[in-house]
Amino acid sequence: MSLALPSQLLLQQDLIEQTLLINPPQDDLPHHAPKTWTVACLSFAVSHNYQQQGFALADICSPPNKTFAHVIIYMSKAKARLGLMLDYARDCLQEDGEIWVVGENKGGIKSLAKQLKGDFDKADKMTSGKHSAIVCASGPQDKKPFDINSYYSDQQNELDIPLQALPGVFSQEKLDKGTAVLLKNLPRKVKGRVLDFGCGAGIIGSYISQHREVEEVELIDDDILAVKSAQKNIEDNKVAYSEAFLSNGFEKIEDRYHWIVSNPPFHQGVKTDYNVTENFLKQAKEHLKLSGKLLIVANEFLNYEVILRESFNGVKQIAKENGFKVLQCEGIKRKPK
Ligand SMILES: C[S@@+](CC[C@H](N)C(=O)[O-])C[C@H]1O[C@@H](n2cnc3c(N)ncnc32)[C@H](O)[C@@H]1O
Repeated sequence: MSLALPSQLLLQQDLIEQTLLINPPQDDLPHHAPKTWTVACLSFAVSHNYQQQGFALADICSPPNKTFAHVIIYMSKAKARLGLMLDYARDCLQEDGEIWVVGENKGGIKSLAKQLKGDFDKADKMTSGKHSAIVCASGPQDKKPFDINSYYSDQQNELDIPLQALPGVFSQEKLDKGTAVLLKNLPRKVKGRVLDFGCGAGIIGSYISQHREVEEVELIDDDILAVKSAQKNIEDNKVAYSEAFLSNGFEKIEDRYHWIVSNPPFHQGVKTDYNVTENFLKQAKEHLKLSGKLLIVANEFLNYEVILRESFNGVKQIAKENGFKVLQCEGIKRKPK
């Protein structure tokens, strides 16, 4: 692993021991940062990485139980997610404390100081370099106790499933077009034990539990705010026999399922994202019963079939609509003896 550009800029600064670090990326920073730092991650994989290096962790979904002289936030492209992190930081910031927001120039950090002016007594660009910048804010104007429940918003869908999602959760505001194609073409025979991989706010798992005869639906995601949203949705909608939990890929999965259903995370130009998808497609068969099936939706132009044919004898396109295709895979190939 290497250091993300904002991490490189961060490490050029004088770092304070008693710091809360929020939303760091998956990189080598845990090997360089002071071990006295507390870390609040939004990714389960990243959180695991810091925990392994002995850092104390804070839960971004619960009110802060400690104050800090210094908070460092990694910029998020999702504006509302940055707002949530800033509110959390404000609530645990000591008087005279400072918040640094660090991010890449292309991620919108350049205009942040101006945006924060109304919320803080002072907000200025502190330094720049490595195609990144750090904005320093102090003197928060409107401090309020942090409550995760105040950040949910309704997700629009035509499926009659009331769904709420926290900021930056995939497809937070309305049902994704690919997911809609998947659910519209969901085979009637989906039943038994089902895994919703990369569940986001939980629409696929919730829909399946309500429209098919299932024994159990498990929903997993690496995004902490996604799993929190999915847990709320399955509870509020009284979705029977379901559980949502954090997992980086199949890491926390021990069982084998009759069906794995997913709108998988897709390649966004960052190498690690592609690895997540590729690993998911390659490893799915190890988490299916022998007669189990994998059902995914993908952009029409993505050639997942090549990878899937390495694991399955039958890779069938069962629908093609609106630029998406639904692939059903069955007949797990056994390893040659
Ligand atoms: C295309 S979205 C689909 C979300 C939801 N199922 C829907 O249809 O609205 C893919 C999801 O995969 C999750 N994801 C990304 N990397 C992951 C990983 N390593 N392990 C598990 N889930 C991951 C993302 O957080 C995101 O919620």
